Amino acid sequence: MKNKVVLITGASSGIGKSTAEAFAAKGAHVVLAARRKDELDSLVASIKAGGGKASAIKTDVSITKDVQGMVAYTIDTYGRLDYAINNAGIEGELAPITELPEDVWDSVMNINLKGVFLCMKYQAKAMIKGGHSGAIVNVGSVNSFLGFPSGAAYVTSKHGLVGLTTSVSAELAPQGIRVNLVCPGITKTPMHDRLRDVVGDDLYDKGLLPTVHLQRAGRPEEMANAIVFLCSDQASYITGSTLTVDGGLTLTM
Ligand SMILES: NC(=O)c1ccc[n+]([C@@H]2O[C@H](COP(=O)([O-])OP(=O)(O)OC[C@H]3O[C@@H](n4cnc5c(N)ncnc54)[C@H](OP(=O)(O)O)[C@@H]3O)[C@@H](O)[C@H]2O)c1
Repeated sequence: MKNKVVLITGASSGIGKSTAEAFAAKGAHVVLAARRKDELDSLVASIKAGGGKASAIKTDVSITKDVQGMVAYTIDTYGRLDYAINNAGIEGELAPITELPEDVWDSVMNINLKGVFLCMKYQAKAMIKGGHSGAIVNVGSVNSFLGFPSGAAYVTSKHGLVGLTTSVSAELAPQGIRVNLVCPGITKTPMHDRLRDVVGDDLYDKGLLPTVHLQRAGRPEEMANAIVFLCSDQASYITGSTLTVDGGLTLTM
């Protein structure tokens, strides 16, 4: 990973933040993107304090101009893009279909699904222009395969990433660019804590966690490890694939 250039969306928190730290520890230049610039700046400072290389660009992945600017900033600053991690996502408001507000549906789709489309569109252009091999990892969820009550918007957006990833993998393979989907299970991040509040401690402890073979939530670093692996040369024959990192949860439910 030494001197490779990695662009990570949703780097201000949770899985994206851990992924940025993991790539930086391996010697990569990391470009951090999200809406909260203060959070990104403090992560840049902490990565630099540890001897790593990082910079940040304020980006809303659902806005075309922002995404174009994020990729242009990466190329202008480092001259290339080797890996792109499309991790930004929201859970949105959970509600039964009869109550689900249209604007919630739209914002979940715009960020979780259209955002990944926009990111890949401009990342792929830059990678193809660069004329070297590369890798893209999108972040789905166990909800890329499993539905749950009141989860229609989130679940649909994450299912969509399977089709988006496999289609774009087939398109970009001839250019030497691999495209994969990591599907985290329950992972201890701020999103996890918000969802735990909605589900309630009792259902979480007695209903949800026991379905995980490993009997615990994942750590964001464990998701980061899978993402780094899929970008590495160790994964040179893996493309169009989904890697579920869920402690066994999808095998039980
Ligand atoms: N935690 C879990 O249990 C779990 C399980 C399965 C899948 N996932 C997926 O993993 C990914 C990361 O989730 P997390 O758990 O790390 O959640 P998190 O702690 O809430 O972090 C979400 C990240 O996405 C960014 N983001 C949200 N909307 C954005 C937008 N419009 N433009 C740019 N960035 C945006 C946030 O940054 P700003 O607010 O600063 O923009 C933040 O950095 C998500 O795609 C999520 O669906 C999580």
